[in-house]
Amino acid sequence: MSRGFRHLIAAGALFACASAGAADGLRSVWDGAYNAAQVKRGNAAYVQLCETCHGPKLEGSEAPPLAGESFLANWTGYTTADLLEKMRGTMPQTDPGSLSIQQYVDLLAFILSANKFPAGNAELPIIAERLKQIRFEAAR
Ligand code: HEC
Repeated sequence: MSRGFRHLIAAGALFACASAGAADGLRSVWDGAYNAAQVKRGNAAYVQLCETCHGPKLEGSEAPPLAGESFLANWTGYTTADLLEKMRGTMPQTDPGSLSIQQYVDLLAFILSANKFPAGNAELPIIAERLKQIRFEAAR
């Protein structure tokens, strides 16, 4: 198979994924955007890397809360891609960008769960284009 042809197939597969994303009903954080297994991984990473500053219940102390009204007020109207970007660019504050994308997205799933958004069947995707489609809304 020629290189060019393989590229075409890869691009086709990506396109198929992106359109599946649009069709699967993930429009906001209320649509079951993450699953339980992912929250478990995110929780473990949180305890290890974030809890000292953001608190065991994400209630904040020195650092701002990552759950509750003021957190949701900050992020309403933005997307999960925006929050991922903020986390990758600035957190953990002592070593920004030091985690894998998968770890950041698992942490994002844990934060969604702590904010009482419903779980679904599939994991929150690590694909930026799909995260951009999932908006924060404080109320359904
Ligand atoms: C050394 C302390 C410290 C650690 C460790 C830390 N943070 Fe932070 N975090 C802060 C401070 C201070 C702010 C506020 C300043 C800012 O937004 O950059 C913040 C802000 C944030 C925000 C933005 C909150 C908002 O409403 O805008 C998020 C999200 C966040 N942190 C996530 C994390 C995650 C996830 C981890 C673990 C990987 C983590 N932080 C680890 C201190 C910390």
